[in-house]
Amino acid sequence: MSKKTLETIAEAMVADGKGILAADESTGTIKKRFDSINVESTEESRRDYREMLFRTEEAMRAHISGVILFDETIRQKAADGTPLTQLIADAGSLPGIKVDGGAKDLAGHAGEMVTEGLDGLRERLSEYHGLGAKFAKWRAVINIADGLPSAACLTANTHALARYAALCQEAEIVPIVEPEVIMDGSHSVERCYEVTSAALTQLFAQLAEQNVYLEGTILKPNMVVSGTDHAEQAGVQQVAEMTLDCFKKCVPEAVPGIVFLSGGQSDEDATAHLDAMNKIGALPWKLSFSYGRALQAAPLKTWLGDADNVADAQAAFAHRARMNSLAAQGAWDAAMEG
Ligand code: 13P
Repeated sequence: MSKKTLETIAEAMVADGKGILAADESTGTIKKRFDSINVESTEESRRDYREMLFRTEEAMRAHISGVILFDETIRQKAADGTPLTQLIADAGSLPGIKVDGGAKDLAGHAGEMVTEGLDGLRERLSEYHGLGAKFAKWRAVINIADGLPSAACLTANTHALARYAALCQEAEIVPIVEPEVIMDGSHSVERCYEVTSAALTQLFAQLAEQNVYLEGTILKPNMVVSGTDHAEQAGVQQVAEMTLDCFKKCVPEAVPGIVFLSGGQSDEDATAHLDAMNKIGALPWKLSFSYGRALQAAPLKTWLGDADNVADAQAAFAHRARMNSLAAQGAWDAAMEG
């Protein structure tokens, strides 16, 4: 592996004012999204929708450093025959690929999940490298409930993340390591802090044990937020302060960038939280976004599967990308949303 290549890619992923578009919904997840707008999910409709996003020149060129793709998409061509990866590269953005096999029930641990996909990963990474992937993503799911997460869940998931990351770097692909502490539940923000700390501490111990080169790695975590069903919801400033406090204690300075997932936050909350953290500033790593829903909800609702709506949907995507780009620089204001 070339450390220099990995560093260069990782730095480009968190270039000033840029973040990542997570467009790697599995076939099952994109069907759910399309169901919500009454559009049938077919290979062609998925292609049309994603092509529309990747052809949003204003968003892609100025604000999106990279796009996470699903296996189907990295092989797909636009309606005019151009590979979708080429559209992304032409806009000055990097194609990336989701390589995990999804979170499955963790045997012996009701209510907990472990992410699969290590078998054959070396060969798949080599193929994806040939298809143009510069970075990859692997998402672990950590649920909070009474007595959860278990030590077994944290160990199994962080071990898999570290094995994945080492294989990526061997293939000269930058690993996005994503330990997602799920926000669903009635837990407090303090409990989210505790679990996020435990997950990150174990993750970096595992990454060290597997000889992962941190300078060539990007972290994709949840923010420290209140459980969705908790009676008291932490405000924007509290989320920003607790998240930064947690990360300063748990994330080594060698990590070049942290790109948050949106995890079910509203579009504006995801932007406001990122902005508030960057306004606090004085951070050892870049702090940006790798949003799926918080970038796509607005264009999806505007598109509705109708070619006549493409320009408006692209404008909606460009707006969210611009707002999050400003947030990544601590330069957003709620008044800009109007
Ligand atoms: P959300 O921003 O919708 O959480 O998706 C990001 C992602 O890639 C989850 O793995």
